[in-house]
Amino acid sequence: MRRVLVATAGGDCPGLNAVIRAIVKRASQEKDWEVLGSIQAFNGILWEPTEVKILDEKAVAGIHFQGGTIIETTNKGGPFAWPIKQKDGSWSTADRSDEMIRKLMYMGIDAVINIGGDGSQRISNALFEKGLNIIGVPKTIDNDLSATDTTFGFQTAVQIATESVDKLVTTAASHNRILILEVMGRDAGWIALNAAIAGGAEICLIPEIPYDINKVVEKVNSRFTRNRGFTIIVMAEGAHAIGDNTSTIQLDEIGYANSKISGGASRLMRELKGAGCKHDMRKTVLGHIQRGGVPVAFDRVLATQFGVKAFELVLEGKFGEMVSYRHPNITSVPFAEAISEPNKVTINSDLMKSARGVDISFGD
Ligand code: F6P
Repeated sequence: MRRVLVATAGGDCPGLNAVIRAIVKRASQEKDWEVLGSIQAFNGILWEPTEVKILDEKAVAGIHFQGGTIIETTNKGGPFAWPIKQKDGSWSTADRSDEMIRKLMYMGIDAVINIGGDGSQRISNALFEKGLNIIGVPKTIDNDLSATDTTFGFQTAVQIATESVDKLVTTAASHNRILILEVMGRDAGWIALNAAIAGGAEICLIPEIPYDINKVVEKVNSRFTRNRGFTIIVMAEGAHAIGDNTSTIQLDEIGYANSKISGGASRLMRELKGAGCKHDMRKTVLGHIQRGGVPVAFDRVLATQFGVKAFELVLEGKFGEMVSYRHPNITSVPFAEAISEPNKVTINSDLMKSARGVDISFGD
């Protein structure tokens, strides 16, 4: 019996379960393969005792439309930065990657499939360079990976954000207000841009285009006649004014790898008031709602394609590669290419031209 270990790493994303199910179903066509899931990314392997789950067809039956991940995930720690508590109560990190690879050998694991975003694929690459047979599957609701046309989860997030804009329009129009919707997107404004176009917003603020608050106020004012009117602003959490930095908060979660962005919509409200904007305004921070719930059909299909391809790469022994969607094909790219460039909104793209063509202002 040969064994493949699956891990889901980083923030959860609608479609993760559909990937897991596809890996298991494709593997079971081969008869001599067993699929195991490591609980909470690689933590399940590093913990004592080890925590893995046998993923057979029964375990994955009907999970393709469930959000989250049945093997849990984490965006803390990892084999190269395992949190260790010091005697004085402070925390440092240890590199446990060699120990983990030895443990995987001892467990008879022939291959690993790591489903995760850019941070997770950096870990995949480092493990591959140490000799581990590993395949990556791209995952991000932010759509910020350039080595694939898109990832599962993104369309679901855009759908949820768009439905939120639709709801905000009716209340904004009824109250003659500015309503700000803050969506996820630390460094890339894809969710904000797509939801702004689909939802018919007037203003869209993204990290790629630092905004001039006076231009934002100008656009807002053009939407009001003697205090009657309304404006919808969709902003990515990482959007900020020219010369300003995004607000981050320090989390006291041990081993949290990223700085946590917070407070963009509140800051924008202060800036609007500071620039003389007198209209009533409210904010909605969509947060983790856009990452939860059932994946839309497109994401289930893509996730299924990714899962099947990942297992086929294992069969081919094509390790050190991340699955990639290059329309209409499902292909793969070496890890080094997969992590080299983030996918950001291109300022002169057709999508941006379409947005400007329907009068969406980016505050520039
Ligand atoms: O997956 C990336 C992301 O969605 C970012 O846009 C966001 O900043 C981050 O996850 C938040 O993750 P969490 O709060 O779960 O750590």
